[in-house]
Amino acid sequence: MTLTRDQVMDKVVALTKRRGFIYPSSEIYGGLSGFYDYGPYGMTLKRAIRDLWWRHMVELRDDVVGLESTLMMPSAVWEASGHLTNFVDPLRQCLGECKKRWRADQVTGEKCPECGGPLDDARMFNLMFKTYVGPLEDRASEVYLRPETAQGMFVDFKNVINSTRVRVPFGIAQQGKAFRNEITPGNFVFRVREFELMEMEYFVRPQQDDEWFAYWRNERVRWYTEVLGIQPSRLRFYDHPTESLSHYSKQTTDIEYEFPFGWGELEGIADRTDYDLAVHQERSKQDLTYLDPETNERYLPWVIEPAVSVERIFITLLLDAYDEDVVNNEPRVVMRLHPNVAPVQVAVVPLSKKEELIRVAKEIVQMLRGQFRVEYDQTGGHIGRRYRRQDEIGTPFCITVDFDTLNDRAVTIRHRDSTEQERVPVDALGARLAEVLKGPP
Ligand code: GAP
Repeated sequence: MTLTRDQVMDKVVALTKRRGFIYPSSEIYGGLSGFYDYGPYGMTLKRAIRDLWWRHMVELRDDVVGLESTLMMPSAVWEASGHLTNFVDPLRQCLGECKKRWRADQVTGEKCPECGGPLDDARMFNLMFKTYVGPLEDRASEVYLRPETAQGMFVDFKNVINSTRVRVPFGIAQQGKAFRNEITPGNFVFRVREFELMEMEYFVRPQQDDEWFAYWRNERVRWYTEVLGIQPSRLRFYDHPTESLSHYSKQTTDIEYEFPFGWGELEGIADRTDYDLAVHQERSKQDLTYLDPETNERYLPWVIEPAVSVERIFITLLLDAYDEDVVNNEPRVVMRLHPNVAPVQVAVVPLSKKEELIRVAKEIVQMLRGQFRVEYDQTGGHIGRRYRRQDEIGTPFCITVDFDTLNDRAVTIRHRDSTEQERVPVDALGARLAEVLKGPP
């Protein structure tokens, strides 16, 4: 079935609410713009994304270590990093009826796109959320919720090299919440105000930045296509022109995805040079140089940084996976999620509510639970209806326990994409599923 990309967005938004992936934050009080809660399947999908990133960026490598730094950091950090001055968007407010606020670079002309009223002059708006630590609300107690995790890696750089055996080139990776007071959150969870960043600062010898920049561009695209199963034809590189680079960057490439609203940034890969270590060294008056044991030289390493949010990957995976087809003359909605990320990898479905079938089905759930994300699905209704529900969640395999199972100790594996069914002995089920799921190493 051919769907327009706009239709896909509307359908994915409706499906994610209906099937328990995403809810607006504090919905019973009217919601909070730019904030979302994740329901049972949504948080499982997010966790799968996070785990796969960590597995491939840290655990499967011997040159990257992890870090967890705080969400609140003192203003001295953001002053040094340049965020207090440079992490700003130009803001214009409607002076007419609607009083809506716009990012100046997203409106053309002098009229409000909503009500046609006049717009005020652009002024700079800092995107960081500020709060205070302790009982006094004065300058000295000002702190900011981090808009990126990266600064944690820079301010802890000396601690990491002094307490571990890392040697340049090496990376420090971190996953965790980041906060940005976006002027125009939107496109569902594409741009939100609270999100989870996954960033890695890869420290290299000065002048070796170009080769590592090229390496990480390719490596990250490989991860999206091979591990997450995103369609390669919907990904492309976008190299930022010099005038649009962030204040710390020498070169930045975005990995873009073809969203229903156009090509948009999925992940950014930036060459941050030694900008951050240099400014922190200067402001903190601490020596942040690295003594290279191979060359005996002392220098500030340069940094290549791949950075992406869980939410951007989440919306990308859902849009990429959404499909409609016809099965047995009936239309079907199916999420063709890669088994690596599917919130439920295997659903075990007894054909009826007969006790003998339920007992075997529950045994199978117990048997598979240690290896896969398994759901037991005994909700009433025709088996076809239960398959459709699992199709919408994106479950790649359903195991059906039927009356023959009681005689032949075999079950049916129903494949989501082809809807084909194969009969497998219960004893061989784990091995067969491992084969068809081809999970990450
Ligand atoms: N440390 C570099 C950095 O923060 P960025 O391009 O501003 O760079 C990195 O953000 C990534 O974070 C983006 O590529 C995108 O995946 C994600 N991201 C940025 N702003 C976001 C927002 N408001 N909502 C969801 N994800 C966001």
